[in-house]
Amino acid sequence: MIAECLSIGANNHLQIGGVDTVELAKQYGTPLYVMDEDQIRKNCRIYKDAVDKYYDGNGLILYASKAFSCMQIYRIMAQEGLGIDVVSGGELYTALKAKFPMEKAYFHGNNKTNDEIELAVKHGVGRIVVDNVFELGRLDAISAKYQKKTKILFRIKPGIDAHTHSFIQTGQIDSKFGVALETGEAMDIIAQAAKLENVEVVGVHCHIGSQIFDLAPFELAAKVMTNFMADVKDKLGLSLSELNLGGGYGIKYLDSHNPVEYDAYIRSVSEVVKDTANSRGISVPKIIMEPGRSIVGPAGITLYTVGAVKEIPNVRTYVSVDGGMTDNPRYILYQSEYSALLANRAGDKPVKPVTIAGKCCESGDLLAEGVMMPEVKAGDTLAVLATGAYNYSMASNYNRIPRPPVVMVSGGKSKVAVKRETYDDLIRNDV
Ligand code: LLP
Repeated sequence: MIAECLSIGANNHLQIGGVDTVELAKQYGTPLYVMDEDQIRKNCRIYKDAVDKYYDGNGLILYASKAFSCMQIYRIMAQEGLGIDVVSGGELYTALKAKFPMEKAYFHGNNKTNDEIELAVKHGVGRIVVDNVFELGRLDAISAKYQKKTKILFRIKPGIDAHTHSFIQTGQIDSKFGVALETGEAMDIIAQAAKLENVEVVGVHCHIGSQIFDLAPFELAAKVMTNFMADVKDKLGLSLSELNLGGGYGIKYLDSHNPVEYDAYIRSVSEVVKDTANSRGISVPKIIMEPGRSIVGPAGITLYTVGAVKEIPNVRTYVSVDGGMTDNPRYILYQSEYSALLANRAGDKPVKPVTIAGKCCESGDLLAEGVMMPEVKAGDTLAVLATGAYNYSMASNYNRIPRPPVVMVSGGKSKVAVKRETYDDLIRNDV
């Protein structure tokens, strides 16, 4: 099994967190997102313990909530003592409503609106990660209005592109996010911010990509960023105390994927930051990391009911399910690969490759291709695995398909975290 929380019961049914998925499908209907809350909490603790162990506790793990956002996940993060990364007024509002402690929220985004900045400042968001000079000016003015001195980090482009098979270090990455190191833009904006009344520059941030398997690009980013902090000290006499290294650690979608152990990642990055800081004579900064996918991704699955099975001789077999790109747009967007199996016959021997198709009016609406399955029949319960990240959060109502509910299992019991959308939800804002 590709995720620790999955197993096969004596009745040959797939289980998540020890709960029978066929029973869950019966109880809550399909399509259905199921997440193992215990696994999510365990993942949080792995990160937290590693920071305590390798970095003397001088760090904070933020859950990047774009991966999966709803009130319940913010409550879980608050209980686990993690911070959060939010990227919109909507995520911020959800966290506020869940009573998440705002001082542990970091607000990101390359084009925050005035309303969003105001919401963040008014509610005392812990840090705003400033992307550009336009934002800086507005943030200073809004902070003045609320008589606050807002603590900020700057999003820096460290010149490392990890979105390739290996990774490359370029002078200037073409990216809409952040300010560039190489051109001096980053140094200039920090110098400018240091003169402002209503913001306090406390650190720098970078995020080099997502679903990364190698340690090397993270180590290099840590080195480049710590050196930059030392350059800021040398040039501007400004001591920055926080280094936020973003998220991006890969997870196992397929058997062939081999993500780094998160513990090993934190160990090696911690060493790089400490060594670089010591060699440059600056204090070791507080380290911040923002995993999203690796906290929730492996803890989730999506259950579907199989409908039409269409065998096209010498071409392929389409297995159509009652969901698709509306609940999981990652295949149509990125041709992302997933593992899938029949939840009601989980241990049966796979005999042939199938294409799992969604129900939308769109030929590209597939969930996976070439997945080995036993003979599939209408009425089977099909599970797509490791869908906990960037599925529910990227879901849409295309074709006016209601979003599925999210059910969480914990200690062998299940409960609804997000209700199923109804047709009335779909017309709620129509006039
Ligand atoms: N921090 C920042 C500033 C980010 O932009 C991201 C992700 C993260 C943290 C969390 O990265 P993670 O640990 O989840 O890789 N929709 C895409 C992923 C987009 C990621 C965007 N930023 C997907 O479905 O693969």
